[in-house]
Amino acid sequence: MTATLFDHIGLLYTGDPAQEEVENAAMVVVDGQVLWTGPSSRAPDADERVDLDGRCVIPGFVDSHAHLIFAGDRTAEFNARMSGRPYTAGGIRTTVEATRSASDAELATHAAELVSEMLAQGTTTVEIKGGYGLSVADERRSLEIATGFTDETTFLGAHVVPAGIPADDYVATVTGEMLEACVPYAKWVDVFCERGAFDGDQTKEILLAGIKAGLMPRVHANQLTEGPGVRIAVELDAASADHCTHLTDADVEALAGSNTVATLLPGAEFSTRSPYPDARRLIDAGATVAIATDCNPGSSFTSSMPFCVALAVREMKMTPREAVRAATYGGARALRRDDIGVLRAGSRADLVVLDAPSYVHLAYRPGVPLVQQVWRDGLRVV
Ligand code: NIG
Ligand code: FE
Repeated sequence: MTATLFDHIGLLYTGDPAQEEVENAAMVVVDGQVLWTGPSSRAPDADERVDLDGRCVIPGFVDSHAHLIFAGDRTAEFNARMSGRPYTAGGIRTTVEATRSASDAELATHAAELVSEMLAQGTTTVEIKGGYGLSVADERRSLEIATGFTDETTFLGAHVVPAGIPADDYVATVTGEMLEACVPYAKWVDVFCERGAFDGDQTKEILLAGIKAGLMPRVHANQLTEGPGVRIAVELDAASADHCTHLTDADVEALAGSNTVATLLPGAEFSTRSPYPDARRLIDAGATVAIATDCNPGSSFTSSMPFCVALAVREMKMTPREAVRAATYGGARALRRDDIGVLRAGSRADLVVLDAPSYVHLAYRPGVPLVQQVWRDGLRVV
């Protein structure tokens, strides 16, 4: 049992609402867990010592929304969008074709590349969805591959209705054979509730089938238009309603009075050149907000939580502290986890050392690689 002392932390952002920041801090890690945090002047002895020379430490980012199991490329679609074409849900089918044609090894290798990009940028927990297979066999293998990277795997057979299949038949497959094949590899069930994807009745039916099979719900809600997604998420006590870009007052109130986290995905608005969600309205109403990358080839091909933090600050008017909180504590809440996203006694020693004196620099110095060290389960991985 080796005790490691992280000393001379210029600013420790703990993510713990009880004591969110400690200046001139130290932290002791034993057996992959945080044992103690406090002022450097009271740091206990330890077997090993890591001198951080005034740098800032934050919890590892929790990226609670990512689509990493896919093949193919949608550069042309992005390029067309940047010349004025709008984003629609239908582009998903392009990736479905490429994903179905890829081998298991190709999908796994590609996902591994994205996960290692994420790790290098400070993400120590990532949720991974299927949703680019849209057949029983392809959704099953997508999730099986995802389990090689994370415990937070999500069945998203209901991403869009695949070409050539009547919607009712597809919903029957999703709630029947596909769900059954995917349950062993999934923790969560998700539906893209949107015009052009699944309507409110279909969303509810699919989520309820998933819940009955033992999965926990989360919802792609209100991304492109106002709709029933957020209402259904709250009604079913979903861990998270994701996107939340087009909300009514009733949606905001419902989120604020619930355990459902509003997960904002500013990479999607950036990459689709769309108006950002109103984070202030949600925070001021009392909702718990998370930020995630939504990493996917169509609407948000970034793996970078620091980039999303910078967007949240600059474009969604979140304070730097709110943005970092949303990217750590908020992401953990969106996965109903209390062992990650915080650095306090008993939590997992998943942490990021920034080559900067404060987390404010994540927004103040956008695009600069400030992640200097990443530790997961108490071991240095970057
Ligand atoms: O979260 N909204 C649905 N799914 C993705 C987009 C997927 C795609 O365009 O390939 C998203 O933005
Ligand atoms: Fe998504």
